Amino acid sequence: MRKADGAQKWGKWLALGLLLGLLTRPAMAQTAPTLLPLPAEARYGQGRLPLKAALKPLLPASVDAAVAGAVGRTIGRLSPATKTVGTATLQVRYGRVGRPEKFDEERYSLRVTPMGVSIDAPTSLGVLRALATLEQLPRPDKKGRYLPEVDIQDQPRFAWRGLLIDAARHFMPVAVIKRNLDGMAAVKLNVLHWHLTDDQGFRIESKVFPRLQTVGSTDGLFYTQAEVREVLAYAAARGIRVVPEFDMPSHTTSWIVAYPRLASNDSVYAPYTKWRTTNVAIDPTRETTYTFIDSLLTEMTALFPDPYFHAGGDENDGRNWRRTPRIVAWMQAHNMTKADGKTVDKHQLQTYFNRRVLALLQQHGKTMLGWDEILGPDLPKEVIIQSWRGKKGLNDAVKLGHPALLSSGYYLDLNLTAASSYLTDPLPPDTPLTPAEQKLVLGGEAAMWAEFADSTVLDSRIWPRAGAVAERLWSPQPATQSVADMYRRLNVLSAQLETLGLRHRRVPELLLKQLAGTGSVAPLRTLTEVLEPVKEYKRHFQGFDYTTATPLNRLADAAPAESEVARRFAVLVDSVVTVRPGAPGFLPPAPRQVALLRAQALRWQANDVLLQPLMAANPSLTEYAPLSARLAGVAGVVLARLTQLQAGQAPSAAWLAATRATLDAAQAPAGQAELAVVKAARKLAGL
Ligand code: ACM
Repeated sequence: MRKADGAQKWGKWLALGLLLGLLTRPAMAQTAPTLLPLPAEARYGQGRLPLKAALKPLLPASVDAAVAGAVGRTIGRLSPATKTVGTATLQVRYGRVGRPEKFDEERYSLRVTPMGVSIDAPTSLGVLRALATLEQLPRPDKKGRYLPEVDIQDQPRFAWRGLLIDAARHFMPVAVIKRNLDGMAAVKLNVLHWHLTDDQGFRIESKVFPRLQTVGSTDGLFYTQAEVREVLAYAAARGIRVVPEFDMPSHTTSWIVAYPRLASNDSVYAPYTKWRTTNVAIDPTRETTYTFIDSLLTEMTALFPDPYFHAGGDENDGRNWRRTPRIVAWMQAHNMTKADGKTVDKHQLQTYFNRRVLALLQQHGKTMLGWDEILGPDLPKEVIIQSWRGKKGLNDAVKLGHPALLSSGYYLDLNLTAASSYLTDPLPPDTPLTPAEQKLVLGGEAAMWAEFADSTVLDSRIWPRAGAVAERLWSPQPATQSVADMYRRLNVLSAQLETLGLRHRRVPELLLKQLAGTGSVAPLRTLTEVLEPVKEYKRHFQGFDYTTATPLNRLADAAPAESEVARRFAVLVDSVVTVRPGAPGFLPPAPRQVALLRAQALRWQANDVLLQPLMAANPSLTEYAPLSARLAGVAGVVLARLTQLQAGQAPSAAWLAATRATLDAAQAPAGQAELAVVKAARKLAGL
């Protein structure tokens, strides 16, 4: 047996041989592990188990439905082209049915030999995780696909590994949620945080307060309770918990539109169809508010079996309360004032509200979660804090004795790189937390807010980047971080996810076809591949007026959240710019790297001529014409610089100045998208 110890070994191997990695990618794919997340320990052997025929399941007599179903799915996915059952077996043994809501063990061992596969785990949850690993093991050879001989011992680093899906801003139909649950299962994420209500929509049927969904959802789209149960069953069969979020006291315009008696001030509310935060909040001073919430929670806590329940609490600046004399008087009467004894303190009122909601949830046996804004010295310790505004929220929460989750750094909607999420660790080696405090860090959640993601483009905004978060939360903390190896495996995962039914690759291509109309899609693809939507919250602030009804079918929506073409371009650039011409130790760059870069730049340069007529003829593309022209400009810089590097020439001051101007201009966004290759071009140019 050859030992290959997950992240460390392969990380070093790749860090040493970046060029080798680029040159030998096809050969490496045969041997390097493709698992994501990496298991705690894996020893690979030389043997192979061919997958021509289906594996024969050997299950315990007492097998539960979730394991039986999962084994069936795995066998089908391993050998999709056959119904023939071979002699090789898939033997499954486990101690008992696992309870995910109790953070039951997910540990497993998985052995593949040329004779068959065996899985052993203390609980059924470990079996489900082992099957996810098994589905990522197949490799191609001349005869078809095979499983490599391997012995894996694995367990998660964090118990809570979530994905938040915002189904309130844009409604996400059941089929969309289900295929994303399949994606979650593939990377061992185990909590779906279902954000069901927000200003723009109340997306779940209440039988007690039906106006919530009929009036509160501006487009009339919501989950029936039967559909919710269907999703819960689908998730449970994959060992995934579902934690609902009913965001209060702010983010509640939809509630107030439906039931005006909840309002803090007496204005008339219309359905809210924009995206910016409203700071509208329900009235925490009236007893009728709690009667309402109690009835709603009685209904919803019965529907969702998980013992955890998210009550939101984010983004309430208190303006709604401070501007209502009745509420101000109530706060003064209850001594909710700052040190001067007069100015009312919104935070005290929010804490009062949280305590009331907490008490209601506790009556229903639930543990409450809330966003980091609700943290304060008077908040009872059992409330779990989810940190989104920064790492500080996580550390402050556990220092005050709260269990906590990290989401800051894992916001997929901000279109940041997979690497940035990957390098965000809830407990980095330099964590300021004591061992006892560290135990309170339950894990984290990737978050997919949906202002700029409808049900069509959602998958492409989540995947494959959520895989980077999944690995950070599952795999042991590595001694060395190998971002390059993470990306290699993320690409393998991306292909696997499409076979599971996710549409992150298909849908952008379909959008491009729509936009190209009768024209050729190829030049549009060449441009869009190196575009990314603008980062962070910039899409709100670039002069384009979005509403809930704005279609998300522009080039900014087809563009990848993180451009893989641009990333590879940057890797190639890194490989040729180690030493500048004129500096000691300069060597001309390797011809192969130069040839690849030159071919890429020539394609970009030629693309603009092909694309401009299409863009001029199609009004929905015209706004992106400047980006195509600027890409040609960047390509010109790349070509000139490669010639300089090959000749060992230092650039003239005039060339540098002109290049700086070209690249500065190329960085400007258009249509809420930007070129993703400018930074690497700058590096290549020596700027
Ligand atoms: C949040 O992103 N407002 C929790």
